[in-house]
Amino acid sequence: VVTYLVIALVAYLLGSIPFGYVLVRLFRKEDIRETGSGNIGATNVIRSGAKGLGALTFLLDALKGYVAVMAAGWLLNLHVLQLVPLQDAMAVAAMAAITGHIFPVWLSFRGGKGVATAFGVFVAVAWLAAVAALVMFLIIFALTRYVSLASILGAASFPVFAFLTPHFPYSGLMIAVILIVPAIIIAKHHQNIHRLLRGTEYRFGKTKASEA
Ligand code: G3P
Repeated sequence: VVTYLVIALVAYLLGSIPFGYVLVRLFRKEDIRETGSGNIGATNVIRSGAKGLGALTFLLDALKGYVAVMAAGWLLNLHVLQLVPLQDAMAVAAMAAITGHIFPVWLSFRGGKGVATAFGVFVAVAWLAAVAALVMFLIIFALTRYVSLASILGAASFPVFAFLTPHFPYSGLMIAVILIVPAIIIAKHHQNIHRLLRGTEYRFGKTKASEA
C-alpha cells in the first residue's frame, strides 16, 4: 500500500502542474481561466491568441503524464519500495496524474479536461493505441474544426485501439484505467457537449475572423 501511495503522490504532483495557467501567467500576465472557455488546456491557450504557448502547453501537459507513468517504473527500480506488479504501479500513476491535472490542489482543484495529459499517459502505457487515437483526433478535427468533438471521439476510440493493437497483457487495474480515463475526459467535456448540441461550440476556422 505504501508503494502505491508514494507512486500516486509523485504522479499526482506531476500531473497537477497547471502548465497552461503558469505559462500564460508568466509570459502574458493573464489568467487563462478568464478567457474563452476558461479551460487551462492547450486549446484555450491557442484560442487566447498564444499559439506558441498553446503548443508548449500541449507538449508539457503530455510530457508530465508520460513522465508520471514512467516514474512508477523508475521508483520500483530504486528497490526502496516494496515490489508490486509494474502494470499496477503504472495504472495507479496514470490515474493519479490525470487526477492531478483535472483536480490540481494549486487551483482549488479546478483544472483541465485531461486530453493532453491522457495522451502522454497512454503513450507510456500503449503507445501504438495512443498514436491511433491521436490520428482519430486529427481526422475529426480536420473534418469539423471542433477540438472538443475531436477530443471526445479520440478519447472514446482509445480503449478500442488499446485492446486491438499488440500490447503486454494488461492487469485488471490497467484495464480499469484504460476504460475510466476516457469516460472522465468525456464527462469533463459536458459544457462542450451542451454547446455542440446547441451549435454554439467554439470552432477553429481557417480565417482569422471566424476563429474561435
Ligand atoms: O482539450 C480540451 C478540448 O477538448 C476542449 O477545450 O477550451 O474548447 O473547452 P476547450
